[in-house]
Amino acid sequence: MIAMKDELDAFVRETQEQIDQEGKAAYGEEVFRRWKNPRHFGPMEDATAIGRIKGKCGDSMEIHLKIQDEIIQKASFVTDGCASSVACGSVAVELAGGKSLDEAVLIGGDTILAQLEGLPREETHCAYLAAEALHAAIHNYIVGCFQES
Ligand code: FES
Repeated sequence: MIAMKDELDAFVRETQEQIDQEGKAAYGEEVFRRWKNPRHFGPMEDATAIGRIKGKCGDSMEIHLKIQDEIIQKASFVTDGCASSVACGSVAVELAGGKSLDEAVLIGGDTILAQLEGLPREETHCAYLAAEALHAAIHNYIVGCFQES
């Protein structure tokens, strides 16, 4: 019985390793790393601005910002999208943290794609979704509207 459990454990481990290798080959190390361990994921209780965008793919990206004196003190994201959207949200909020609003608004989909060293063509839109959600959060803050766009 124990031998059977060991065999099953080994099978599960090998299968997971194979899936991970295929993920790295398809998306690259950086996207894979962020997907498996996304930094700054989750809602922010003391956010002063939130931007939410639903993409044509049907997935949503939400960016939460804490802004003080026109500087983004901290940022987080929430998405129900694909692995690429997780990586893109993570990059978007990482780049936005510590930036002025004028600087952060210059973070675009291309900026995010460059940071991730590209994405499969059919998933490049995920980077633009993250950038749009960031811009929406900044917009909502500027117009004094603390709600989803
Ligand atoms: Fe919809 Fe990536 S966010 S496919």
